[in-house]
Amino acid sequence: MALQYTEKVIEHFTNPQNVGEIEGADAQATEGSPACGDMVTFSLKINPETHIIEDVKFRSYGCASNIATASMATTMAKGKTIEEVKELGHKLVAEALGGLPAVKMHCSVLAMHGLKSAIKQWEIERGLFEEENIVLNEKTVKKLLRSVIHPQTGENIVKMGLMKWVKIDGDKVFVEISMGDTDSMFADNIYEETVEALEKMKCCGQALVKVVSNSGKLLKDNGDVL
Ligand code: FES
Repeated sequence: MALQYTEKVIEHFTNPQNVGEIEGADAQATEGSPACGDMVTFSLKINPETHIIEDVKFRSYGCASNIATASMATTMAKGKTIEEVKELGHKLVAEALGGLPAVKMHCSVLAMHGLKSAIKQWEIERGLFEEENIVLNEKTVKKLLRSVIHPQTGENIVKMGLMKWVKIDGDKVFVEISMGDTDSMFADNIYEETVEALEKMKCCGQALVKVVSNSGKLLKDNGDVL
């Protein structure tokens, strides 16, 4: 069945804004999605005094939804401060497009990761980025895993109640995810997104993830999970 795209999505896909690369950009970052293998690159010009994003461009190697979200994100980010843009969630940008099909929500997550990575890179280079003093516990892991989107429902795995348990042992994080027997085809995808999200946390030395079906069948793991 063909996906239903809003007029705004079609408009930004067929006529994307701010495509390209900024020559002499202050920051640039590329993010890839373990889910689909697509990539997006953002480059930025940022005023060092005001922190205002004076210019932003992107190149997407992703699908229509990724291109439309990246395009919309650039129009929303231009003229705003990096602090304001960091508060911009993928859902807000998708809403500005009139919504995205659920199976395409992860494409908007990829676009926003790309934009925010470029901002982070700029902050790191100027010594402005302070890794949040994250205490490794169930609460922080749950918060982080809200960025893992179920490819079919477009909702995050924590909200869907798929995260069964979290255990912390020193700098090791153990996570078990339980999936419905009918959507086990997404096990690899969710496993990879989860491991990648956990490994991005500086305080996480090792991410051990296990995905099981509702009936307890092991679908995917990276060994040694309790
Ligand atoms: Fe890969 Fe949309 S970005 S499917």
